[in-house]
Amino acid sequence: MASKNKITMTRPDDWHLHVRDEKFLASVLPDTAKRFARAIMMPNLTDPVTTTERASEYRDRIINALPNEYKLTFDPLMTLYLTDRTTTSEIKKACDSGFVHAVKWYPAGATTNSAKGVSDIVACYDVLETMAEEGMPLLVHGEVTDPSVDVFDREKVFIDQFLEGILKNFPTLKVVFEHITTEHAVNLVIGASDNVAATITAHHMLLNRNALFKGGIRPHHYCLPVLKRENHRQALIKAATSGNKKFFLGTDSAPHTRSSKENACGCAGIYTSHGGIEFYAEIFDKADALDKLEAFASFHGPDFYGLKRNRDKITLSRATVAIKDSFPFGDEECVPLRAGGSLEWSID
Ligand code: DOR
Ligand code: ZN
Repeated sequence: MASKNKITMTRPDDWHLHVRDEKFLASVLPDTAKRFARAIMMPNLTDPVTTTERASEYRDRIINALPNEYKLTFDPLMTLYLTDRTTTSEIKKACDSGFVHAVKWYPAGATTNSAKGVSDIVACYDVLETMAEEGMPLLVHGEVTDPSVDVFDREKVFIDQFLEGILKNFPTLKVVFEHITTEHAVNLVIGASDNVAATITAHHMLLNRNALFKGGIRPHHYCLPVLKRENHRQALIKAATSGNKKFFLGTDSAPHTRSSKENACGCAGIYTSHGGIEFYAEIFDKADALDKLEAFASFHGPDFYGLKRNRDKITLSRATVAIKDSFPFGDEECVPLRAGGSLEWSID
């Protein structure tokens, strides 16, 4: 039910999230568990989650770090990190586990902790075949790493050089094109079969690439894929608010310490979990599409993954809520999106 100032909707899930590990977990998990019932946990730890056994151990560390009130209400959905050496038997183990829900393809060198990712996707074809047979989704970081390709073109070139071929060779493989940032990606997904979907972040719909340079260089707006031109931002908003079941919520909230962001070589990643659903409410409201938020945030994801929709509800109200300048993150601090500013919606 959506009115001008209030919306009550099925509790959402976050289909793309980074919570890091060890001492960092407890700093960020409450923001997610307060809002979402489930989240797809990205496997790009410093020592990546390459096996089902590691995924199980990581899952335990996440659950241990959750405040008691969320231990039974929040379900971390685990993923495996694909490498050139991932075996089909490891994939079968993951499928049988019941807690691994996808496999993530990071092209080696594309982003944070991707060095051990895939250097040759053709070497993974047997694994992709097994995933297609088992119905295990492939989550794709869709950017080429070729240094001669302009950083703003890397998603489009990835579509042309890799993704179209994969979709043609594996028509039954479930593919989520993660954190899409361009009109090209929107069009690819719309034109593909029902096995192909995409997550869309709030930050790529809130900011265009000018936000990287407003009055000076803005390291806290640096993420990968990098922010794009205004026409692409508009294409993402149109896709997300269209009601098309192929598009769903994935925050890609990616916390880093302040010192690793405000650095001569700053890390990629924007922390958004403090407004994990509120930022989307703001975007859908401005697009006059609040009535489409529930399906985008709470229905399309579980339907694609073959999981049940959540049953409980949340209520969002129009209200100004201050955002802190920073919050404790392990023994350092993290600067969230719109630090020192405010959210326009609040969760009751
Ligand atoms: O901005 C990003 N941050 N993009 C990614 O692909 C990885 C993520 C991270 O882990 O920090
Ligand atoms: Zn990510």
